[in-house]
Amino acid sequence: MPDRVRIVEVGPRDGLQNERAMVPTAAKIELVDRLSATGLQTIEATSFVSPKWVPQLADAAEVFAGITRRPGVSYPVLVPNLQGYERALAAGAREVAVFTAASEAFNLKNTNAGIDASLERFAPVLERARADGVRVRGYVSTVLGCPYQGEVPLADVVRVARALHAMGCYEVSLGDTIGVGTPMRARDMLRAVAAEVPMAALAVHFHDTWGQALANVLACLEEGVAVVDSAVAGAGGCPYARGASGNLASEDLVYMLHGMGLHTGVDLDRLADTGRWLAGLLGRETGSKAGRALAAG
Ligand code: HMG
Ligand code: MG
Repeated sequence: MPDRVRIVEVGPRDGLQNERAMVPTAAKIELVDRLSATGLQTIEATSFVSPKWVPQLADAAEVFAGITRRPGVSYPVLVPNLQGYERALAAGAREVAVFTAASEAFNLKNTNAGIDASLERFAPVLERARADGVRVRGYVSTVLGCPYQGEVPLADVVRVARALHAMGCYEVSLGDTIGVGTPMRARDMLRAVAAEVPMAALAVHFHDTWGQALANVLACLEEGVAVVDSAVAGAGGCPYARGASGNLASEDLVYMLHGMGLHTGVDLDRLADTGRWLAGLLGRETGSKAGRALAAG
């Protein structure tokens, strides 16, 4: 078990990408700035994907230009291809994330490309990033199940994670896109990947569709993972993953970690305030139980 956990806050990207009503650019900027004031060190700020595919994040360049970059905080952005990388770099990004899946069917729906074709698309991105001194994170989606294909063989998860790491991704985030995993399966999946990719280069990313995210995180912490993705207010979901719902709520994650004596550097009260502010902005109750409990005092 690590004694310190780095949280990758994905609310401004994964949290917002599935919102139907357009969130104003100024509110997206405020969200990132509020999050960076909580002590979070990594905030995925937006996504330079095709605006035809994800209209909500069409303002990625404006958002990125508008945020106040705090020293010591990194602001990765999602890029699907070289075009996205170039847009991100022009906007000033210094860290990007590429994404593919362990399921061929899902990857086709999400990026209009098979897994191997997507890896080929990333090769020039990684090459350019290396030359530009830009760090690249990699995501593998559908690691515990796919909404189109159903079961996903562990060997496919391992293969794709290994490929991303071998290409030069400094960290590979393992995503349970539709939140179907349960703790022992999550542990076994992580163990299988960690046999091929160093644990220090792995992160976990659980959606909470079935209420399993926190339990899955605990099982993975026990395996030694020290980087966990989550979204403030439990916002989010992938528009191309049928049945996907929100991410693990960052507030609930921080509450659990601090309760276990693990350090995050995050101020839970500030984070919960931000979660309630975001929920208000989106016109719904926060998806974080800790956020609700703190509000009730
Ligand atoms: P495509 O339609 O096959 O792309 O989409 P294309 O290369 O044929 O281009 C079509 C048009 O899009 C062209 O414009 C391009 O210029 C434009 P047109 O000539 O028609 O006017 N285009 C772009 N514009 C701006 N930025 C770009 C870009 N690329 C092309 N980067 C593509 C292929 C990959 C682009 C598309 O499928 C796409 O953007 N998909 C993204 C879907 C997405 O964002 N999904 C959610 C993120 S993944 C996720 O949530 C999972 C994760 O959280 C982990 C987990 O939970 O498992 C990470
Ligand atoms: Mg996700």
